[in-house]
Amino acid sequence: MTIEFDKPIAAHETWNAPTLAVIVPSYNERENVALLYDKVTTALGDTVFEFIVVDDNSPDGTATVVRDMAQRHANVRCIRRIGRRGLSSAVIEGILASTAPYFAVIDADLQHDERILPEMLAKAIASDDIVVGTRYGGEGSVGAGLSKTREAGSRFATRLSGLLTGRALSDPMSGFFVMRRAVFDEVAPALSDDGFKILLDIIASAGRHGGHGKPLSISEVPYTFRPRHAGESKMSSIVVVQFLGLIVSKLSRGLIPTSFLLFGLVGGFGVIVHMATLWFAHEVLGQNFVWGQVLATLVAMTFNFMVNNELTYANKKLRGWRYLTGLLTFYAVCSIGALANVSVASWIYAFDGQFYMAGLLGVLMSVVFNYSVTRVFTWR
Ligand code: GDD
Ligand code: MN
Repeated sequence: MTIEFDKPIAAHETWNAPTLAVIVPSYNERENVALLYDKVTTALGDTVFEFIVVDDNSPDGTATVVRDMAQRHANVRCIRRIGRRGLSSAVIEGILASTAPYFAVIDADLQHDERILPEMLAKAIASDDIVVGTRYGGEGSVGAGLSKTREAGSRFATRLSGLLTGRALSDPMSGFFVMRRAVFDEVAPALSDDGFKILLDIIASAGRHGGHGKPLSISEVPYTFRPRHAGESKMSSIVVVQFLGLIVSKLSRGLIPTSFLLFGLVGGFGVIVHMATLWFAHEVLGQNFVWGQVLATLVAMTFNFMVNNELTYANKKLRGWRYLTGLLTFYAVCSIGALANVSVASWIYAFDGQFYMAGLLGVLMSVVFNYSVTRVFTWR
């Protein structure tokens, strides 16, 4: 046999198709990503994998670190998103950009034990649609990775999600799992992009858009949750409220968007702020009703705008100049909403004379109006 040496292989011809895509969402993880890559490389041994970091333009420059890594390792890529935030949407984009028939989602902060990846992948290749790394089943544990309060919260949320998915999973809140890409592609259109818990969403959504027609086969591999390596957690009370919104939204089979629930919730608190301001204007400032009401309306609208910007639209938060124009469009839309409220309510009242029912329908109608229109003009 003769070997031909006159035709060197071009670099782009040495491509080895990956079996596994490792998807890493990141926000301020510059001290962690390179270490994670080394550990994953060791854990996966001969398995060909691609390593995709989805970074939301972290101020600490995580994206630059990943680009440097990509200059040295052909299987590394960085997706840098500007002007957007969100764990679920980052994971979804990373998966969609990958090529391997299987993918793993893993946090950048080394809390997930990468050493169980080979076992997870083997199970997925053998038969399972989803293999979840669990902190609660079998030998798994949260170790020192969670505070007592967070552990209690996490267990409560686990029960709640059992209700939603109708499945007995020990850790549906896990952010660590391996999945068959083809199954993901089928559920992808049903996923909401504004949550923190992508696995839960996938399982809940697959229940209806049942992939290949039969229920998903899900298995678990236990591991011990480690403390975060460097940097800080992005979990917050805002994330918790958003999570509860996601649960209710999914219970309504996605009919009511999470953002609408949060918008309505904020509106409810806005009413309290309104009444408190009205009381203050009357009792303390000694204003008459009309001025009191004007002041209360302005304060409540400003409150609603600020809280919606932090909570409901945290994934497209307005800043700087756009914060100001956003506030103005919000005032404008809500004023029209209030007019619509009064006219619709009066019309209903004239029609059937039900005082409180008419009032309630008026409010409902302005919430729907304000929500839909501010989505077009304020939080585009
Ligand atoms: N791109 C992007 N955008 N990444 C984000 C964002 C974001 O807005 N928020 C968080 N991340 C990344 C973090 O950089 C980290 O790699 C990962 O998502 C998890 O975020 P942490 O801040 O470490 O959250 P946690 O430790 O409280 O919760 C995590 O662990 C749980 C247990 O497994 C999450 O992954 C949960 O989903 C998971 O259940
Ligand atoms: Mn973490």
